[in-house]
Amino acid sequence: MEVVQTIAALREHVAKWRRAGDTVALVPTMGALHAGHVALVRAARGQAKRVCATIFVNPTQFAPNEDFASYPRKERADQDLLRAEKTDLLFMPSVEEMYPAGHTTRVRVAAVAQTLEEDFRPSHFDGVATVVAKLLLQALPDVALFGEKDYQQLLVIRRMVRDLDIPVRIEGVPTVREADGLALSSRNAYLTAEERAIAPALHRAITDVASAVARGAAPARETAAAAERLLQAGFQKVDYVAVRDAETLQPVGDGSRPARVLAAAWLGRARLIDNIPVTPLR
Ligand code: PAJ
Repeated sequence: MEVVQTIAALREHVAKWRRAGDTVALVPTMGALHAGHVALVRAARGQAKRVCATIFVNPTQFAPNEDFASYPRKERADQDLLRAEKTDLLFMPSVEEMYPAGHTTRVRVAAVAQTLEEDFRPSHFDGVATVVAKLLLQALPDVALFGEKDYQQLLVIRRMVRDLDIPVRIEGVPTVREADGLALSSRNAYLTAEERAIAPALHRAITDVASAVARGAAPARETAAAAERLLQAGFQKVDYVAVRDAETLQPVGDGSRPARVLAAAWLGRARLIDNIPVTPLR
């Protein structure tokens, strides 16, 4: 695996592959890699001849009061893991390489980006859309892979790619979970042992909401009850538990369209997010 820090070097590698007729998959990450990221790399391997991973803790998607400075950084372990997965190339740019002095342009996606996470992390998705647009234009891959774990992010990226005619296929990869249901996340490292024992309550709560709604229960009542259960389980604050249209993230209508349960809640220093589909009973 080659490791490059500059956009020019990234482009040279991709150009060389293109000349050989190879297809290219891109896996953007912020590092502190876990089995969820590995699932993306493995899925990428099934989609293209060459796999390029990126590690960049993107400052523009963190608010000033958020965890940019303390976000876990594990460069050595990350490289070992990517090498073991036979990743062809790792792009690890500096902040200066990605955001040269004087940068001002931001990519802002409307509608699907302006709800749920946006209410608690305003302009977070501007930073995500901007950095992902840059990475896609820098690498120009055939396909880029993103986890369903960050479901709203996946929808925002799909919308952006369509709206800006970026010639890339976006593939979603199912959420990888611990045996007790907790979705893997780099931020799980913030949990104390006691909090880690409480954390699976989030997945249980959205699973309960999904099955009740599938049986015909009213979403508002189920989500309110789930939020209450999370507080009782030991979460300090519930940002949202919501049942939304799986494509638009608007409130659900008559139940004729696919729906998704999404939640975000604080447990100690960690803000955990998770989501699952509502699977209609047949
Ligand atoms: P990061 O949180 O490092 O996640 C990188 C990719 O891994 C994202 O597509 C995310 O959805 C996926 N992922 C994380 N946990 C997962 C899990 N348990 N199962 C499956 N996939 C999982 O998301 C970001 O970085 C950034 O916002 C980024 C897209 C890189 C832009 O900066």
